[in-house]
Amino acid sequence: MNRLPAVARRSPVIVITGASTGIGRALAFAWAARAARLVLNARSVDALEEVAATCRVRGADAVVVPGDITSAAVQEALVEGARTHFQSNPPSPAGGIDVLVNNAGVGLYGTVDAIAPAMLREVFELNVVAPLRVTQLALPALEAARGTVVMMSSIAGLVAMPRTGGYAATKFALEALSWSLRAELEAQGRPVRLCVVRPGLTETPFAENARVAEGSSTRSGMQGVPRMSAEEVAQATLRAVDRGDPEVNLTFAARAMTALGRLSRPALRAVLTRMAPRLGVPRGRG
Ligand SMILES: NC(=O)c1ccc[n+]([C@@H]2O[C@H](COP(=O)([O-])OP(=O)(O)OC[C@H]3O[C@@H](n4cnc5c(N)ncnc54)[C@H](OP(=O)(O)O)[C@@H]3O)[C@@H](O)[C@H]2O)c1
Repeated sequence: MNRLPAVARRSPVIVITGASTGIGRALAFAWAARAARLVLNARSVDALEEVAATCRVRGADAVVVPGDITSAAVQEALVEGARTHFQSNPPSPAGGIDVLVNNAGVGLYGTVDAIAPAMLREVFELNVVAPLRVTQLALPALEAARGTVVMMSSIAGLVAMPRTGGYAATKFALEALSWSLRAELEAQGRPVRLCVVRPGLTETPFAENARVAEGSSTRSGMQGVPRMSAEEVAQATLRAVDRGDPEVNLTFAARAMTALGRLSRPALRAVLTRMAPRLGVPRGRG
């Protein structure tokens, strides 16, 4: 395993998907303060360029690879961008990618009976297939750097609440891939760490950007629930990567739900059913 945490090295090479806003942008700024060499992806070119410019002002080197991360060409360009840009500029001390953050993701609200298969497939492409493929492509460079893959999961990766079944399915899938990959890498003696980060509700445009099943309310049902800041999530992620933590649960709710689920599955099921009306599940449907 890694002798030295990646971010403790000088100017680590950090690749972040979904860096134009929210948690990804906060992560870029947090690593910029450590003079990192950043490779940033998202679709909104102007917003991404602005993030990169701010990172440079804060002492980082930053390059953007704009585009839809579900596209194979963009996935390849992102990993290749880390290699080509930083080889000539100058080479990464470890010769590869120190941290890959699979952060780009989208929500999906709606009761399970209302989710269109096409919508679920689309969300799976972004939340599951893209992180899987980018990680596969980046593994040689991560190995070269004895680096870390960060999977941005969620409390929804542990507990599927009413009206978030589709979204939770993607995060459960991401968690499953992470469990297997970690064990496979360790068994093969490949020096890449895996860190699963589970933010709770975070103050970002996530809810506005979420897909909504037809006929469902756009309300997340989480109005008035306290949110973490994207900066808090970013700082906790950097700490977890520094320490080599395999996972980090960022909220009391995540820890409480997990503990309750371990203690009593029936109790957890009862709590979720009681939460349903508050989360916007229409009453009285059979
Ligand atoms: N906010 C929360 O409450 C919360 C809680 C737990 C976990 N999370 C997870 O945290 C991660 C970041 O979410 P956030 O809250 O920061 O949401 P956000 O503000 O909506 O940011 C999502 C990011 O992903 C990018 N993105 C979306 N579709 C993309 C695509 N097809 N290709 C490339 N980039 C794409 C967006 O940029 P463009 O639109 O420019 O492409 C944006 O930079 C997600 O994986 C989410 O599931 C969020």
